[in-house]
Amino acid sequence: MPGKAPAKMAISTTINGQNYDFLCEPRQSLLEVLRDSLQLTGAKEGCNNGNCGACTVLLDGEPVNSCIVLAVEVQGRELTTIEGIANRGELHPIQQCFLEGAALQCGICTPGFIVAAKALLDKKPNPSEEEIRFALAGNLCRCTGYDKIVRSVQAASERIQAGSTPKQNPQPNQTNQQQAQQQQ
Ligand code: FES
Ligand code: FES
Repeated sequence: MPGKAPAKMAISTTINGQNYDFLCEPRQSLLEVLRDSLQLTGAKEGCNNGNCGACTVLLDGEPVNSCIVLAVEVQGRELTTIEGIANRGELHPIQQCFLEGAALQCGICTPGFIVAAKALLDKKPNPSEEEIRFALAGNLCRCTGYDKIVRSVQAASERIQAGSTPKQNPQPNQTNQQQAQQQQ
């Protein structure tokens, strides 16, 4: 006899400055909900067990592997995904420097590296090479190697300090619906 489907829980959270309400099963990972329910597919599934960093997002400003965070854990908290790093089409200096520094090939690891690098530069705008390598140690790349990635984060650090910090993301606590109404 088929088992009863588990009850879904109602979760309310902020993602990239916008309010999101969704239903999820208690067993579902944050990565699964982001990609399959909310269509935020920038965070990638590499290993799905917390080893590669491709699924990195910021939870209250701290980098986490979203494949090993339960979606129910984000109730009332603030998330930033790779979709929230650029500002209305203007790339963040980290993204721009990855492009200019050819710091990617297949790109599967790239969202995780960029989000992890943002977490570092938000806290420490002028990190040493060692600090960059340490902060990115949980992110694996199987194509590019790490030198171009580290050089690109160094270049982004210089650019941010020179004053090209991008404008902030959309207004916090504004719903998608409110934003759509304002644009009408
Ligand atoms: S997919 Fe999450 S750490 Fe690899
Ligand atoms: S660019 Fe392919 S895994 Fe990093």
